[in-house]
Amino acid sequence: MFKKLVVAAVATSFTLTASVSYAGPKAEVLHWWTSGGEAKSVAVLQKEFSENGGSWTDMPVAGGGGDAAMTALRARVLSGNAPAAVQLKGPSIQEWYEEGALADISAVAKKNNWSKVLPASIAGHMKCEGKWCAAPVNVHRIDWIWANASVLSSNGFGMPKTWDEFNATARALQAKGIIPLAHGGQAWQDATVFEAVALGIGGANFFHDAFVKLDKKALQSDTMIKVFDQMRIMRGFVDKNFSGRDWNLATAMVMNGEAAFQIMGDWAKGEFLAAGKVPGKDFLCASTPGEGFLYNVDSFAMFKVKGSERQDGQKLLAKLIVGKNFQKVFNLNKGSIPARTDVSLNEFDHCAHVSAADMNASSVGGTLLPSYAHGMALRGAQAGAITDTVTAHFNSKMSSKDAVAMLVKAIDNSK
Ligand code: BGC
Repeated sequence: MFKKLVVAAVATSFTLTASVSYAGPKAEVLHWWTSGGEAKSVAVLQKEFSENGGSWTDMPVAGGGGDAAMTALRARVLSGNAPAAVQLKGPSIQEWYEEGALADISAVAKKNNWSKVLPASIAGHMKCEGKWCAAPVNVHRIDWIWANASVLSSNGFGMPKTWDEFNATARALQAKGIIPLAHGGQAWQDATVFEAVALGIGGANFFHDAFVKLDKKALQSDTMIKVFDQMRIMRGFVDKNFSGRDWNLATAMVMNGEAAFQIMGDWAKGEFLAAGKVPGKDFLCASTPGEGFLYNVDSFAMFKVKGSERQDGQKLLAKLIVGKNFQKVFNLNKGSIPARTDVSLNEFDHCAHVSAADMNASSVGGTLLPSYAHGMALRGAQAGAITDTVTAHFNSKMSSKDAVAMLVKAIDNSK
């Protein structure tokens, strides 16, 4: 009898402690969205999460492209204290899964029909060994040129349709004292310009062979020499203070008319919009010369964590991220287009419409390609080897031939 009572009392106290201490879903979220446009976008997710009972702990790690965020992530995981949700993308999702670090979110995916509402090409990036291991928020396009509308029109120029035209316009503007290309000398920004140039000059097959398959013939081809030649020309179009500049400060140079162009993914549009600039009026968008579409899908992976509050937080967050309304509002701010195929683009601007149409056409035409510079095409070591070469070339007087030799060697060493 006494024993029974004790057992009953223990059982009651367990239930009580559990129900008293459960404070609802919570999530610590690691991301690198710290610029004006990015902060506005992540605030949309934060708001939806709290409106649905979640409590959000923000872990922003500044640094475009996410290199610093990834370093911070590794340190947290090594210390046995991974954040619950992490902005992660491309093959690094599968790399973390293989290390046993990611939670399986298939139950949320099934319940919310992700395989119906997401295109197969995007869903593929979100799966690890057949299980859903990440939730996509958008599709960013990389191969864009942004321009100050009045700088171009007042000097009698339109958006360049070929690289020769780009070079000619840039030279003419430079002669008038305008900085042709707003650029920040950070490795990932060099890589961003480089891959747009490579796609434009080499075409989609070349890009795929070189930066997806790492095919040696493509890597050491004459086409690759031409790509580095164009990069050398681009180097002449940046101002002398370009080193280390953040990408959003480069966007600001285009906004205020100090510079004519920026080559950057469409998070730059988020920046223009956050500053109240109007597409088609204050700034122009066009794809960089050439065929194809370089995509970059932002997504969140859930790291294995203990406790029902944190696990419930992960489930809630995953569900909200792929939610229809969230995908609309977030992407209106972020500059990207929704990952879901059933979100109306009625409220989106001309640039987003161009992006969606080009993405569909490229998908049909076989020229839809993952961005290497934004971690969608290759594992970290290989992407890093290419970027090291691109940066070394851009910041020196290295010849295109030497750059190609360095590229091939760097890739060999990274395997
Ligand atoms: C991310 C964007 C982000 C940009 C600049 C890209 O790699 O996909 O979401 O805005 O980096 O930080």
